[in-house]
Amino acid sequence: MRIDILTLFPEMFEGPLSESIMKRAVDKGVVEIQFHNIRDYSTDKHKKVDDYAFSGGAGMVMLIEPIARVIDKLKSERTYDEVIYMTPDGETFNQKIANSLSLAGNIIILCGHYKGVDQRVRDHYITREISIGDFVLTGGELAAAVIVDAVVRLIPGVISDETSALTDSFQDNLLSPPVYTRPADYHGWKVPDVLLSGNDKLIEEWKEQQAYERTKRLRPDLLDE
Ligand code: ADE
Repeated sequence: MRIDILTLFPEMFEGPLSESIMKRAVDKGVVEIQFHNIRDYSTDKHKKVDDYAFSGGAGMVMLIEPIARVIDKLKSERTYDEVIYMTPDGETFNQKIANSLSLAGNIIILCGHYKGVDQRVRDHYITREISIGDFVLTGGELAAAVIVDAVVRLIPGVISDETSALTDSFQDNLLSPPVYTRPADYHGWKVPDVLLSGNDKLIEEWKEQQAYERTKRLRPDLLDE
């Protein structure tokens, strides 16, 4: 999978995408992540990337021209499954969207700033608008990093235990059951007996029942879906 990230602040991705599992995925070649600084595509002598809104009001709007130039260039090199715009008014991200994006070959992710991008970018280039929740960030970068992390870990070969992504919370609309490790008794706080029983069938039943009970208590909305 190839992910092209269009941003004014590529450095913002350095931490989240260059450590741990994401770093390994990139090193293994499972995913290629390319950053494109939108400012590099400005033809203006001051490298201008935004301007006042025609409608007035506070805040700047990102210009169509530099964004169009990056996207046109990328699209002339390969085809893209999605051109995603990170925005608080997009569809709310969830595991289902992560699953579907993990099947894509190439995607572009555009990170907005200020008051957002000129509407014509959204009308003519963007195929999908995604929000990571009902709150406003200073820009789309942190949201894009969240999406990339959630999507890349689902690509086969990225997580060492192949099945572990399938048993995540939300994967079947259920939260994960509690987990325990050694010691079996920590100052009198004991691990449930069933987990030490060695009876795989009983353990499986316990996990299912715990997952259901936890979901009902903490996220009853998931059971309605
Ligand atoms: N940009 C600013 N806020 C955002 C959010 N909540 N989700 C996605 N992109 C954003």
